[in-house]
Amino acid sequence: MIPDDQVDEVKARADIVDVISQFVELKKAGKEFKANCPFHDEKTPSFYVVPDKGFYKCFGCGESGDVFNFVQKRLGLDFVESVKHVAARSGVEVREVRRGPDEEEDPRRPLYEAMAFASEWFQAQLADEKVGADARAYLDGRGIDVGTRERFAIGLAPDEWRGLREEAAKHGITDELLLQVGLLTSSEKTPEPYDKFRNRIIFPIEALGGKVVAFGGRILGESGPGQPKYLNSPETPIYHKGEILYGLHRSRHAIRREGSALLVEGYMDLVSIAAAGFENVVAALGTAMTAEHTKLLRRYTQKVQILFDSDPAGLKATFRAADLLLAESLLPLVVTLPDGEDPDTLVQSQGAAALQTYLDQAVDVLDRKIKILEERDWFDRIERRRDAVDRLLPTLRAVADPTLRDLYVDRVAKRTGLRRETLEAEMAKTDRPGHMPRSSTPAAPRVQDQARRVSRQRPHLGAEWTFLRVLARDPERRHEILEGALMHIGPEDFKDEVDRTIFQLFLDDPDLATVPLDADPVVATRLEQLLAEPLREGQLAHAGQEVREAVNALRASRLGRQIDQIQGRIEATPDSDEKLRLIDEKAVLRTEMKELGHAGGATFARRHARGFNPTD
Ligand code: UTP
Ligand code: MN
Repeated sequence: MIPDDQVDEVKARADIVDVISQFVELKKAGKEFKANCPFHDEKTPSFYVVPDKGFYKCFGCGESGDVFNFVQKRLGLDFVESVKHVAARSGVEVREVRRGPDEEEDPRRPLYEAMAFASEWFQAQLADEKVGADARAYLDGRGIDVGTRERFAIGLAPDEWRGLREEAAKHGITDELLLQVGLLTSSEKTPEPYDKFRNRIIFPIEALGGKVVAFGGRILGESGPGQPKYLNSPETPIYHKGEILYGLHRSRHAIRREGSALLVEGYMDLVSIAAAGFENVVAALGTAMTAEHTKLLRRYTQKVQILFDSDPAGLKATFRAADLLLAESLLPLVVTLPDGEDPDTLVQSQGAAALQTYLDQAVDVLDRKIKILEERDWFDRIERRRDAVDRLLPTLRAVADPTLRDLYVDRVAKRTGLRRETLEAEMAKTDRPGHMPRSSTPAAPRVQDQARRVSRQRPHLGAEWTFLRVLARDPERRHEILEGALMHIGPEDFKDEVDRTIFQLFLDDPDLATVPLDADPVVATRLEQLLAEPLREGQLAHAGQEVREAVNALRASRLGRQIDQIQGRIEATPDSDEKLRLIDEKAVLRTEMKELGHAGGATFARRHARGFNPTD
């Protein structure tokens, strides 16, 4: 941590123009500087640096911030690192705060030291001419060369019972300590403690700060009975499995830069593809992905490409991880590797380009699920359709991001032929206990409960009311009005839940003349009001025009919401390609909105200003 006053000092002394010119060619423009934006592709400069105010802004893509922000984004650093970078450039000395005198007495410090010692020793064993010969040959055979071994601090636990223990003792590291960090074990049969890791290739697991907190060991050669292929450190005072992602300490900058993380199953996959140039990779280590893990990833990226095996176990783990990611508002994409391959075997046999091809074909987790169900023919067989929906529901329920949730529900509705409302009601049903971790956002309450609440809180919205009034009071032309409206709007465009329910009732039964018996009381009251009196002669003449304007206003309202949502995503995404795509998307919606303005949506909005606000 760097104390705030020092951060302020660095910021005050830093020359933002100097710092940014390291990366971009700035041209003076009055009191400001401008350049082609480094965060998106452009031909004419819309990237401005304002030295007086110490900030930069791009009017093309919306990126903006201060000097630290720029360095963070550009170099993929975290905040503290960015402050250090700027400080060095500006000749300011920063001191990270020590946590006071307690730091010296951190009771865990000897544990870290024991782990560091062990890691050094394992590496020395692998490097040892004689002891490490077989292991080096094994690793060479798997394409892990000396550079990669050093980069990942890979080591060897030799085939001895007490090699580490004896060496540690010479350095004053006690059995007690080694037992505490899980490097020694003992049993009833063998009460004298012995090395936990024997005859294994050792992968140190590091915390974000770089300290070794655990090890994973792969058996040299084939695993036999009672000898698992991989052995991992147990939970210890310094190692909580659920909180550490293997590799993140090294890959987080690359993850930020790329705007995505590759999630693999294990050590070999990670090391192997990182060696092939895919640096933005982390491993969940088996299937034990946790919510904590996803929160960690969320700090660096919004997009995660899952590269697990394609066998049933791998698929199950994929969907489990994906649901956790969705709950944290991360977008999970699924990479499907050929049968029998894992990321490691794929790059070893076919090279980095082949893996890239598969990465490029990654699909959204929902699409992957739908595709699997399609392959099984579950949508076309009536008796399986219920099962198909059940398979998709956990994913729908998991999504925390409202925009994504909306898109997902839409997609499932289209594919299954179910109405959105039905799906939403299904989603709202409480999940079986212990089945799926619920997202932090509660599922949408059932329509009718919501209707009850909303009607108490909100006045009628102008366009919705006008539309429903004409619809209700002009039964002769109701079919025609509904048909025309449905080309442009759907129930989801009614913001008021009661209005939405009423619209749905008309859709279900266009000849509706009386309030259905089972209607919610609030819905019933309003519908009664609507149906009470037919339009008079004079009103009928204007009805057509009124409906068109109301529909346009509802469309404009939807567009406004969509534009806001997209704007939010533009601001949130660290991925510049994604940003550009979203900006395009926004431009299309803007144009549509403008055209609507001419067609009367905006006129209507102005006239009904109290009840309707297009960007509301
Ligand atoms: P895999 O069995 O897929 O192994 O386990 P792998 O990563 O392909 O390893 P190689 O290529 O055979 O060397 C994937 C992950 O599951 C965990 C480990 O984290 C491993 O990396 N695992 C697997 C265990 O914890 N214990 C085991 O016995 C097996
Ligand atoms: Mn493998």
